[in-house]
Amino acid sequence: MTEQKQFRAIKGTRDIQPPDSTLWNWFEQSARDVFESYNFREIRLPIFEETSLFARSVGGETDIVSKEMYSFPDRSTSSDATADAGDLISLRPEATASTMRAYIEHGMHALPGNVKLYYMGPMFRRERPQKGRYRQFYQIGAEVLGQSDAPAIDAEVIEMLMTFFSRVGLIRTTLYINSIGDKNCRPQYVELLRAELRKVKDQLGADSQRRIETNPLRVLDSKIPQEQEIIAKLPKISEHSCDACREHFAKLKEELKLRGVSYQENWRLVRGLDYYTRTTFEVIAEGLGSQNAVCGGGRYDGLVELLGGPPTKGIGFAIGTDRAILSIQESGNLPKLPGLDVFVAWLGLEAYPTAVGLTKKLREAGLSVELPGEEMKFKKSLNLADKLGARYALIIGSDEVATGRFTLKRLADADQKKLSEYELLEYLESERRGTRG
Ligand code: HAM
Repeated sequence: MTEQKQFRAIKGTRDIQPPDSTLWNWFEQSARDVFESYNFREIRLPIFEETSLFARSVGGETDIVSKEMYSFPDRSTSSDATADAGDLISLRPEATASTMRAYIEHGMHALPGNVKLYYMGPMFRRERPQKGRYRQFYQIGAEVLGQSDAPAIDAEVIEMLMTFFSRVGLIRTTLYINSIGDKNCRPQYVELLRAELRKVKDQLGADSQRRIETNPLRVLDSKIPQEQEIIAKLPKISEHSCDACREHFAKLKEELKLRGVSYQENWRLVRGLDYYTRTTFEVIAEGLGSQNAVCGGGRYDGLVELLGGPPTKGIGFAIGTDRAILSIQESGNLPKLPGLDVFVAWLGLEAYPTAVGLTKKLREAGLSVELPGEEMKFKKSLNLADKLGARYALIIGSDEVATGRFTLKRLADADQKKLSEYELLEYLESERRGTRG
């Protein structure tokens, strides 16, 4: 006999199973509720796009584009099978680029006011898997696009993010903010930084040495212990930013205070994607080890233009759902989520039609109900109800069918009541309102 291959999920991917999936749904629904209260609306984007869209926006030299994308040539649509292999496409490593593409493609700049969009779904990066780092991971992101770059927009986006985190009980967090300048002041700063870094090149590791030439700002991001002392002495962007950037950042901080959002400044927060200008921010959470960033974001004025659209300002963020949920789980601060309400223990074939009918009514009333498809012994039935975590067992035997009064047993304390169909529905509905809020 040949041995059967045991299939396993591909490295860096995983299944989100019940009961975790219930927690995920609750988390995503809470994001929808909070974001929609700020007048954001959902955009559903494709999972893959042209590779060059990501190269152009995220940046060809970034780790994400140069090392981590899942890219492949699409099969040619040409009828000639020997024709070229077709365009290179990539699984999306993030969704800001796709949002910009959609904004341009659908002429959203013509819409009134700011365009406020949110999205959620899987992203793909070929990183080394570890706790909180996956190759298929999930983000919930939000983007604001329009003509204004008012610091109030940055502040509102950050306020919304922190409101959401507190709504889902992710409270042991730190918000870091920074301003990395714009096209008027950053190029000079980058040159200055490069010149300073060249002086200390020998003391830096291979990655940082390479970045001196490709992207010196990223050296500031280094976590290598031996480099920390050197980095601490490098010139800071805040000492070299233009008046407009400085004013924008000062106003952002005022706006955050006005909204009661606490933050810490971190001049080394430069982010790993090329499209940022001015405001950058990140939120870190406890209980995650080294992969502790649960959200990253910032302003990206000019990105729409870079992709061939009209002059547009933009800001947004993306939450790492896997990490945020992991942090909530580690904190033990879990919400009470709905489970199985009623297990219908029917006894004897004559009780079955009544059980089916009543089950349908309970489900219509919004309750979660389990109805066994085969007759079970009474004891076995209650045992299973218990194991499934049902809150009640509804007992329907020949007596109940004859009298029209059903036995409802609360499994936590074995408290039992005899109720008519009307009383039963009434009781379970009001009880559910009480426990589920
Ligand atoms: P990002 O910092 O690359 O930004 O990703 C945002 C968040 O996604 C991270 O803080 C982290 O929580 C999560 N994340 C990233 N990679 C992984 C991974 N391999 N496994 C698990 N979680 C991960 C962006 O993607 C930008 N598009 C954010 C943005 C939107 N900026 C402006 N608008």
